[in-house]
Amino acid sequence: MHELKNDVEGPLALMERVFEAKGQLASEYPLVFRRGFGGRLVALDDERGVRSSCAVLPRTLVMAGVHWSAGLIGSVATDSDQRGRGLASQVLAEAERWLAEQGCLFALLWAEDPRFYLARGYRPVGSELDAVVDAAVAARLPIAPDIRPVVPSDAPAVHRHYMSQPYRADRTAEETQALLHCPGMQVLVAERDGRVAAYACLGRGRDLPNVVHEWGGDRTLVLALVREAFLASGADHVVVMGADNSSLVFAGLAAAGAKVHRGFLGLAKPLAGSLPSLASALAAQGGGTCHVESDGKVERCRWTGPAGSVHLDSNDLLDLLAGPRGTSEVLEQARRATGLAAAGLPLKPFLWGLDSI
Ligand SMILES: CC(C)(COP(=O)(O)OP(=O)(O)OC[C@H]1O[C@@H](n2cnc3c(N)ncnc32)[C@H](O)[C@@H]1OP(=O)(O)O)[C@@H](O)C(=O)NCCC(=O)NCCS
Repeated sequence: MHELKNDVEGPLALMERVFEAKGQLASEYPLVFRRGFGGRLVALDDERGVRSSCAVLPRTLVMAGVHWSAGLIGSVATDSDQRGRGLASQVLAEAERWLAEQGCLFALLWAEDPRFYLARGYRPVGSELDAVVDAAVAARLPIAPDIRPVVPSDAPAVHRHYMSQPYRADRTAEETQALLHCPGMQVLVAERDGRVAAYACLGRGRDLPNVVHEWGGDRTLVLALVREAFLASGADHVVVMGADNSSLVFAGLAAAGAKVHRGFLGLAKPLAGSLPSLASALAAQGGGTCHVESDGKVERCRWTGPAGSVHLDSNDLLDLLAGPRGTSEVLEQARRATGLAAAGLPLKPFLWGLDSI
C-alpha cells in the first residue's frame, strides 16, 4: 500500500478502466493528478500492478466564516477480477489514515450506490438545493445581452465570484484556473459594463452531465446564465445545484416554476483522533462547554448547558454539526438535555461541482 503523487500512471490506468473514462480522468481532476496540487492517490498493488486505488484531497470547508478541515475521497476502484477480496476496504482505510494525518476532521465522499460506504461507517451530511429547469421554466428566466463562453483571461474574475460564496471550499486562484479546463464542461460568463459579473458551469465529465453545478456573481445574471445553459445543453431539462444558503437564486428559479429539492451533500465519517476538534467546534457553534472524557477505551465528549449534560461520540458530533439537509435528531435530543438553543446548528457544509473529486 502506498501513497503517490509522482507516479500516477498505475492508479490512473486502473481508474480509467473501471470508470470507462475515455482518457479524460487526469484532466477532469487536475487537483488530484497534476503536480503542484494537494491531491494524492492511494494504491494497493501486486506483482501485476495496481489492483485497487482511490483519490484523496484535503480541503478546508468554509461556512459563513466557520472553517473545517475535511478530506475528500473519490474514484474508489478495484479491478473487476479482484473484487470482493477486501481490497477497496483496505484502500479506504489507508485513505482515511492519511487524511487524519493531514489534520482532516472527517472524510467526505459522493457515491451513486452508498451501500459500500454505509457499511463502513459513513453517514449522510450537509445540505444542497437542486432545481429542475425545463423549457417552460427557462422561458420565464431573465435574458441578458452579454453572455459568452469563458476565455482564459476570465479566470481571476470567476475565482473572485467563487470566493464570494459564503459556503464553499477554500480554493486558490491557481486551482480555479486549472479546474476551468475540465472536459465535458461549458462555462458561460455574463458581462456588465465590460466586466464579468457572473458565471455558471454546465456539465463536468462523467459525473455531472446537464447539471449547472457551480455559479456565482449577480443573482439576475446567474438566472440568465441558467437560461443560456439550458439552451446550450440541448437536453429537455437541466438541474441547477447550489448551497442551501443561496436562497435568492433558488427563489428566482422557483418563481419561474422550477421544482426545488433539498438533498444532502455527501457521505462522511469522522476520522481517528478528530473527537477533540469536533468537540471544540460544537462548543464554538453551539455554546455551553464540551469536555472530552475517556475511560481508556472509548473517547466521548460531555456537552453541558444550563439544563444538564449529554454524552456524544464522534458520529454524534458530526451529526450535530453537519446533519443531512440541515437536520439532526441527535441535536434535537441534545438541545432538550442541555437546555442550549444551538440555533446555528447544524451547519450546512457545501461543495460546488468543481470541488468534487
Ligand atoms: C465498489 C468497489 C470499489 C468495491 O471494491 P472491492 O475491492 O470489491 O471491495 P471490498 O472487497 O473491500 O468490499 C466488497 C464490498 O463492495 C460491495 N460492492 C460491490 N460492488 C459494488 C458497487 N458497484 N457499488 C457499491 N458497493 C459494491 C460489496 O457488496 C461488498 O460490500 P460488503 O463487504 O459491505 O458486503 C468495486 O466494486 C468497484 O470498483 N466498483 C466500480 C467502481 C465504483 O462503483 N466505485 C465506487 C464509486 S466512488
